[in-house]
Amino acid sequence: MRLTDKAAMVTGGGAGIGRAIVLAMAREGADIVIADLRREAAEAVAREAQDLGRKAAAIRVDVAQETQVQQAIADGIRQFGHIDILVNNAGVTPGLGLPFTRQEEADWDTVFDINVKSVFFACKAIAPHFMQRRSGKIINIASIAGPLSSLTMPSYSVSKMGVITFTRIVAKELAASNVNVNAICPGLLWTDMWKNIGEVIRETNPAYRDLTPRQMFEKRVEEWIPLKREQTPEDIGHAAVFLASEEARNITGQALMVDGGVVMQ
Ligand SMILES: NC(=O)c1ccc[n+]([C@@H]2O[C@H](COP(=O)([O-])OP(=O)(O)OC[C@H]3O[C@@H](n4cnc5c(N)ncnc54)[C@H](O)[C@@H]3O)[C@@H](O)[C@H]2O)c1
Repeated sequence: MRLTDKAAMVTGGGAGIGRAIVLAMAREGADIVIADLRREAAEAVAREAQDLGRKAAAIRVDVAQETQVQQAIADGIRQFGHIDILVNNAGVTPGLGLPFTRQEEADWDTVFDINVKSVFFACKAIAPHFMQRRSGKIINIASIAGPLSSLTMPSYSVSKMGVITFTRIVAKELAASNVNVNAICPGLLWTDMWKNIGEVIRETNPAYRDLTPRQMFEKRVEEWIPLKREQTPEDIGHAAVFLASEEARNITGQALMVDGGVVMQ
């Protein structure tokens, strides 16, 4: 097992990609703090990690609230004595399906609060702990929407490029403290998030009106993805375990595309 004696905190770990990261890390021996807006979802995933033989705690947190993020990290450190891995995964997609000319200020505020400022809050809160221990791994979940500059997800796209840029800044700042900081950019995954995206695109784009969200998703996969298959939360879990492991000790400041080849750079 690659993460024995490690403790990880995963934001948005109550569903989708976050849940798969929790379970992949738990399978590799890590104890886990699941920090999610939805307490019951976090508790259900904590029970799944416990069934794998790990210690797991569920904490209700809104990652857009700095004091709540500080408190969650302090609670996690108190419960397990240390945190070795921080995964900033919680994210949302308000105002999607619309070009920037039809988006509202509120769409930008929400997406920046939850997708970007949250990463700043969590990195700032964990940095003293990692610097003092001269060890730590930070993994930020960005998206291919960042490098793709999506016309129908303007605020989301910019927020995820912001996460990639901030990942590099934190990587530079913490490198001297032996902390690795990387991003993962997932491609197309059939989670609750994409089910909502499918509904919105169907409503806003006449070309897709007769398709169910799942049919639309499959069409996107077929048209966009060179490897011609969807990505799964488990694919992202495997990548997160690798970046959290000693095998990745010389990788920092990178954005790893797990997208079947959509973005090649
Ligand atoms: N699904 C995709 O195709 C896809 C592609 C690229 C990137 N991503 C990114 O992956 C991450 C996870 O996406 P997902 O598809 O699993 O989403 P999801 O909606 O299925 O799950 C998100 C989880 O985050 C939690 N959450 C939402 N807002 C929160 C907040 N303010 N504070 C704490 N927790 C909060 C939710 O309760 C939920 O458990 C997001 O950052 C998303 O942008 C997803």
